[in-house]
Amino acid sequence: MNRVVGIVSLIALISCGGPQESKEEKEVKEEKALIHSFARPGEARVNHLNLIASVDFENRKIIATAHYDIDAANDAEKIVFDTRNLSISKVFVDSVETKDWWVGPEVPFLGQPLEVTIKPQTKRVSIEYVTTDGAEALQWLNPQQTAGKKQPFLFTQSQAILARTWIPCQDSPGVRYTYEATVTVPSGLMAVMSAANPTEIDSSGVYHFEMEQPIPSYLMALAVGDLVFREVGANTGVYAEPSMVDATAFEFEDMQKMLESAESIYGKYAWDQYDVLLLPPSFPFGGMENPRLTFATPTILAGDKSLTALVAHELAHSWSGNLVTNRTWNDFWLNEGFTVYFERRIMEDVYGKEYADMLTLLGKQDLEKELKSLADSPEDTHLKLSLEGRDPDDGMSDIAYEKGYFFLRTVEENVGRERFDQFLNEHFSSNAFQTIITEEFLAHLKEDLLLNDEVKYKELKIDEWVYGPGLPDNCIEVSSTLFDQVNAQVEAFIAEEGTAAAIDTTNWTTHQWLHFLRQLPSDMGVAKMKDLDSRFSLTKTGNSEIAAEWFLRAIENNYSVADSAIEEFLIRVGRRKFLMPIYTALAEADPSKERATAIYAQARPNYHSVSTNSLDELLDFNSDGPTSK
Ligand code: BES
Ligand code: ZN
Repeated sequence: MNRVVGIVSLIALISCGGPQESKEEKEVKEEKALIHSFARPGEARVNHLNLIASVDFENRKIIATAHYDIDAANDAEKIVFDTRNLSISKVFVDSVETKDWWVGPEVPFLGQPLEVTIKPQTKRVSIEYVTTDGAEALQWLNPQQTAGKKQPFLFTQSQAILARTWIPCQDSPGVRYTYEATVTVPSGLMAVMSAANPTEIDSSGVYHFEMEQPIPSYLMALAVGDLVFREVGANTGVYAEPSMVDATAFEFEDMQKMLESAESIYGKYAWDQYDVLLLPPSFPFGGMENPRLTFATPTILAGDKSLTALVAHELAHSWSGNLVTNRTWNDFWLNEGFTVYFERRIMEDVYGKEYADMLTLLGKQDLEKELKSLADSPEDTHLKLSLEGRDPDDGMSDIAYEKGYFFLRTVEENVGRERFDQFLNEHFSSNAFQTIITEEFLAHLKEDLLLNDEVKYKELKIDEWVYGPGLPDNCIEVSSTLFDQVNAQVEAFIAEEGTAAAIDTTNWTTHQWLHFLRQLPSDMGVAKMKDLDSRFSLTKTGNSEIAAEWFLRAIENNYSVADSAIEEFLIRVGRRKFLMPIYTALAEADPSKERATAIYAQARPNYHSVSTNSLDELLDFNSDGPTSK
């Protein structure tokens, strides 16, 4: 099987890209960018997908035919798709069945190429297939795992390279296409996608979707369940299970304001409608920026809107990520660092500078912790990563998010906000619906923002930020008076005579609580933990962020009163960001890992593959064991 396309076939018929760039240059650039994909879009690329799918909950399968409109080069001989654990039954070229297709050997985490012989004039390729139990993007939930407990639920998580486990696709962020879909689900359930969505259940169980803006495959998304829609603002709304929709609409009441704030900073929202889908608690992420429909964990429903920075974050991806996309996962910081920067700008605009400063300081703490944990692999602390031959999931650390943020903040403070905003506005409008890599961004930055001032470029230590380890010493300083107040309380409390009764928590926000809990020593002892818990009922808190932080202190300090709450949390919640530190703390407290493994064995069936892949490794858990999915 020949995956290497000759240079001749690189000269394809693709427009777009900067005017100064030749087609050949663009092709070579694209070809180099295909580090986690078998596809060779220079030879033939998908430009539209029509997915006809039926969701079979009983057998936990999606049965589908995918019709692709393609653009083929003058000398194209084949089109290559990424697939992983898919069962392909038939292939058609321009509506005629062909036997001239084959699936290449399996490569770890990349899956298998599916090659179909075509002609340069081929317009359409269709693939009939069924998903298998190995479809890592999919999580099938039984009714017990939902809020309503009556209906099953399905959701997908395609980023980074899991789309290929439920749809054959050219699974590289550089390949964009529009799509439509017809999805049949059991009567009584609603299907929603990263597309224009229904607002009511259709008793026929057949739903039609259209996504008119071209998107990369990692943004393909589908969820099916007992869902209702509730409008929040003129073009914002929420989807949730019926019993959750009031709480969801309340928590995200400020969504329309956030959207308007975002537009006032970086220009018009390009995707028409912006909704949030509230998923069951096994969702492995906080949020996922599926276009038009952010997927979100219910663990951000704190009851007081205090965890909604996550909505600002996913909304911000509508510009950084979904509109201007990292061309490879090595440039992931262009998606996430920009998004954290934009998220904090939105939060500052809507809730004020003091609020945003607290988020920034918590982010700095996360960054410092991440830098420590990556001490043995300093190259993973560069903004520009090298993930060739590795699972892109390995590069998805706080470096991209927080080092990326602090880099942009440092540049902003140096050139001034007004100029920086002009520059970013231009960045989003001139690269809209395209992809970029780090080097292109740096070239723009040097030319358009720094006006080729070499001295300034050096002074900003840009190459050190992007291609060097750790945190450069010109990183901006941040402070928060609200956190300073907390620091004083921490000191007084941990002193020998300190008591919980003496802590003044008047008007503390969630973020102040988080800061407080993070400053507590890991060897503070059970008596102080007990004192805090009796005064503030932390073991019983309904705020997931506070709970997760408190549980870490409880484990470190052997505060066994929290044991059953920790177990209950780990069994109910599948969000990897919470699971990893808690299981790590459990494993550190008991190196035999007995307790961690016992809880994990019970909780694992509720977790998505994104979480089990990380946890199996952390706990040396044999996934072939009796608890495997
Ligand atoms: N796009 C990410 C989630 C993601 C990253 C999925 C990499 C797969 C691979 C999303 O926008 C995100 O960053 N989510 C964060 C929340 C955020 C507030 C930092 C999360 O899930 O914790
Ligand atoms: Zn993000």
